[in-house]
Amino acid sequence: MLKMGRNDPCWCGSGIKYKKCHSDFDQRLEVFRHEGAVVPPRKIIKNKAQIEGIRESGKINIAVLDYVSEHIHEGITTEQIDQWVYEQTMHYGAIPAPLNYQGFPKSVCTSVNDQVCHGIPSPDEVLREGDIINVDVSTIYNGYFSDSSRMFCIGDVSPEKKRLVDITKESLSVGLEQVKPWGFLGDMGQAIHDFAVKNGYSVVRQIGGHGVGLEFHEDPWVSYVSEKGTEMVMAPGMIFTIEPMINMGSDEVFVDDENGWTVYTEDGLPSAQWEIQVLITDNGYEILAY
Ligand code: MF3
Ligand code: CO
Repeated sequence: MLKMGRNDPCWCGSGIKYKKCHSDFDQRLEVFRHEGAVVPPRKIIKNKAQIEGIRESGKINIAVLDYVSEHIHEGITTEQIDQWVYEQTMHYGAIPAPLNYQGFPKSVCTSVNDQVCHGIPSPDEVLREGDIINVDVSTIYNGYFSDSSRMFCIGDVSPEKKRLVDITKESLSVGLEQVKPWGFLGDMGQAIHDFAVKNGYSVVRQIGGHGVGLEFHEDPWVSYVSEKGTEMVMAPGMIFTIEPMINMGSDEVFVDDENGWTVYTEDGLPSAQWEIQVLITDNGYEILAY
């Protein structure tokens, strides 16, 4: 850790003197570090200008998902959703982050029924009444990243599937109650896990959320089966996703070995996921994308 002079420009890049910027912040984290807590590295703490850029990216992500929600219906293909996301993102002068990301071939992830996440849009996949689908949109705008996803019910879906979708959405609010500066990510993770289990569901363990903003995937990795008082301390200026994958049956999943991406439930039962992107502020949080 670089020792800073009180009148030096702050390490966060704000241009403000250290003593008026992150000096108190560092002292506070030092106490946590001393107690053995996992503390955020400086590179994931965003300054005001970066937050403003990421907020603008988030607005586009929200608008693209709004477009999908207004147009999605029975009978379309997931390829059609991919085209909407590509066109809408371009329309706003932005780039779909998934496209060519580590070889991902499309602009969006579309995960239907027992697909847990990272479903690849296809002209052969038609949405039918009773399907539930997660549409996961990520945007790069002026170099800043945003990421959020929503579930959609196609026509009439069974009460069982509808409840899974609703409880998964509600789990985000339950998790958010624990999101505040100087709390632990595990406080949020346990709250979501307890809520899912109480409702008869399981939570996927191997895949989690992530820091996001200056890159698509940054530290920390965010679990939703973690324990209260563990994992990274939430500090102002951190931005990460809350995106639990909740299964109707067991938490076991596997990756499609043909495409290397799509994750399925082992038991073939449905899985749901909602994702928001949150900023830790001085007194709580701000949702940057949903
Ligand atoms: N939004 C998804 C995530 O953060 C995107 C995965 S990478 C992709 O997990 F290439 F599949 F888009
Ligand atoms: Co994500």
